[in-house]
Amino acid sequence: MANQHWFRFKDLSVDTALKPDWKPKSLVPGIWRCVPEEKLNVDWIQYLSAKINANVNNIMLFYKPPHFNNTVAHVDLTITPGYIPRYYALNWLVDGADSEMRWYKTPLKEKAVELTPANTPYKSWPIEDVEQEDSCDIGGRLTLVRTDSPHAIFTTHQGRWCFSIRPVLLIKSNHDRGKKLLMFSNIY
Ligand SMILES: [Fe+2]
Repeated sequence: MANQHWFRFKDLSVDTALKPDWKPKSLVPGIWRCVPEEKLNVDWIQYLSAKINANVNNIMLFYKPPHFNNTVAHVDLTITPGYIPRYYALNWLVDGADSEMRWYKTPLKEKAVELTPANTPYKSWPIEDVEQEDSCDIGGRLTLVRTDSPHAIFTTHQGRWCFSIRPVLLIKSNHDRGKKLLMFSNIY
């Protein structure tokens, strides 16, 4: 599609990323904010930080059950300095075969800020009110995904764990975001 919302990091491996006991005990649909060292090996955090030139000090973990269909599409916002769009995340999956992250055109209609169960802010629109622009089966490979345009998750026969690294990079405008995405795509 013309408006690509994701980019695959072909040369960045997640093979050694996860600690053996990363999985939450109860298998319920959920969203967790984690200290990276709780879930990820320190050597891998250092490897990634050096590769992408960013601080890896904030990760989210999501679980969606089989046959999950989002009823809304949402954009992610930063907690500080105050509900500005979170432009992108670095995601990869465990399981979640044939699942999709889908992106939509941003509606003109403004929405109020809401909070997830993990207290992270977002805005959302009913899925029937947004027009799809792109999709990606992220799979087990590190993928740069836009989180500032409305997005939603759909699973098929398998539950989907998603690790989402939120690197600390200050990006103030669409122009800067474009440059950053370009920088990533030139390097990897
Ligand atoms: Fe999101």
